[in-house]
Amino acid sequence: MPKFAERCAIINVMKPPVVILSDNDADRRAIADAALSQGCRALLAGSVAEASEHLKKVTSCLLFCDAALTSGGGAFSSLASDCGRSGIHIILIAAADIKPGLLKALKPWVHDYLGTPVLRESAAARIKNAIRMKNLEQAAGKAGCDLQDWLSQLETVVNCFDPLAFDAAKSQGNLASRLIRMLPNDRDKPAYLMVAVPDGCMKLDCDLYAAGDEGAEKIVERIKIPESALFLRIKAAESLSYANYSDRGGRLEDLHAFLPPELLEAVGTVHNLAGFVYLDTYVIAFNYGRPVTAEDALFLKGLALPGTFLGVVAGEFRGVSESFLVMARALAVATDSHRDNGAHVQRMNEYARAIAERMSLPDSFIRTISYSAQLHDVGKIYIHPDLLDKPLRLTPHEFELVKKHASLGARILGDAPMLRVARNIALTHHECWDGSGYPVGLAGNAIPLEGAIIKVADVYDALRTMYPYKSPYSHDDACQLILAGGGDGCHEILPSHFHPDALRAFRATAGRFEEIYHSAGQQIPVQIK
Ligand SMILES: [Fe+2]
Ligand SMILES: [Fe+2]
Repeated sequence: MPKFAERCAIINVMKPPVVILSDNDADRRAIADAALSQGCRALLAGSVAEASEHLKKVTSCLLFCDAALTSGGGAFSSLASDCGRSGIHIILIAAADIKPGLLKALKPWVHDYLGTPVLRESAAARIKNAIRMKNLEQAAGKAGCDLQDWLSQLETVVNCFDPLAFDAAKSQGNLASRLIRMLPNDRDKPAYLMVAVPDGCMKLDCDLYAAGDEGAEKIVERIKIPESALFLRIKAAESLSYANYSDRGGRLEDLHAFLPPELLEAVGTVHNLAGFVYLDTYVIAFNYGRPVTAEDALFLKGLALPGTFLGVVAGEFRGVSESFLVMARALAVATDSHRDNGAHVQRMNEYARAIAERMSLPDSFIRTISYSAQLHDVGKIYIHPDLLDKPLRLTPHEFELVKKHASLGARILGDAPMLRVARNIALTHHECWDGSGYPVGLAGNAIPLEGAIIKVADVYDALRTMYPYKSPYSHDDACQLILAGGGDGCHEILPSHFHPDALRAFRATAGRFEEIYHSAGQQIPVQIK
């Protein structure tokens, strides 16, 4: 990592040179002196051609041009056009008796006029204004580019936002890479970025980033810092703050006085900082290559706020999702607790995931079916346990009653978007691809894919499990029945009952089913007592 001094080196940027197209020694001297007084070099030219050569080699902002050397147009018009394209202002040096025709011919190219003999102070004022104008143009251009860049980043971040997959550390790293100075002479950027979040124990967990060999690197991870003076001042500044040591009488000690010692130990010296706080998350940049302004703090906020906001949203969403999953698990286990305290429903999630992954279905579908599968028999909560546990074959009437669990389950799960897949599963997991299932007798692709996947998984697990009316099948026998067909003593099973793709995925992942049957039932995160 470069040393601190290298990071913070303030490069003395040269001001743009001034080109003087004149053969009048007194005017040349006056303008050259004026240029020097403004910190600029003066490049002398005795002809249009010579001036053109200079402007090809350097980036200037100002051309002083003696009207007598313009020849009324010609080569000069080409030079003037180049100046126009490059944003170089032309100041015409004209004698009091200049011909009106020449003045009119040159007018389109000229930004300002000076009389000859040139007064040094007049030339200095023109140079000063030209430099200021150039700086403003550059600042406006940079602001436009920054805004465009920011909008494009924002669009990408928002379009790709997935609260369950949101990686706060990666988002922070991206911010640091975009913000931190990678080149010593990039004076507009900070050398360090700190992101601090509450640790829940009255302190802040702070990550500190600096330029590394391959982009921004986290140089300090999770140091604990009390929410002390620095943070309180940022909070008091209504979420946006900046400070320079030069604002405080030029004494570093005065700036350091309100910085936490843990930070100074990591950074060494802080010359300036800009920061903001959003919902208790602090984002603070240190050691810009020049004094910071309110605009820097604003720009930092603009850059950091989307990621910070999405991080907060993702955290909230995960909290709600976890609560939802706990409730879904509790409901599923409660439904199945009369039999094996929920082991079956837990295995169903894993079987469903194995088939869906094998079928290369989208991640969001895999995620959803992996918690929805457990609710497939939720409708059995309305079926009398004596029927579910009857040791003998059900009478036709009893079987009709049990079959109702499919539509009852769908009714329980309702229309909530997060339960849509679970609802489809509850309703259709006994439908058969050949149309011989229940409750509706749907066939083929009329059966939702999630229902068709659970059909395979449920038959496998039922075959493996001991029931009052049947003994458990071995893994190989269960596979044989599903893939080749046969009877389990109570029901007839045919390969035509299953979605062909789901059946292929089952065949390919049968070994995984065996593992799940022996392992998943051992871990039951929710216990109903
Ligand atoms: Fe069922
Ligand atoms: Fe089941």
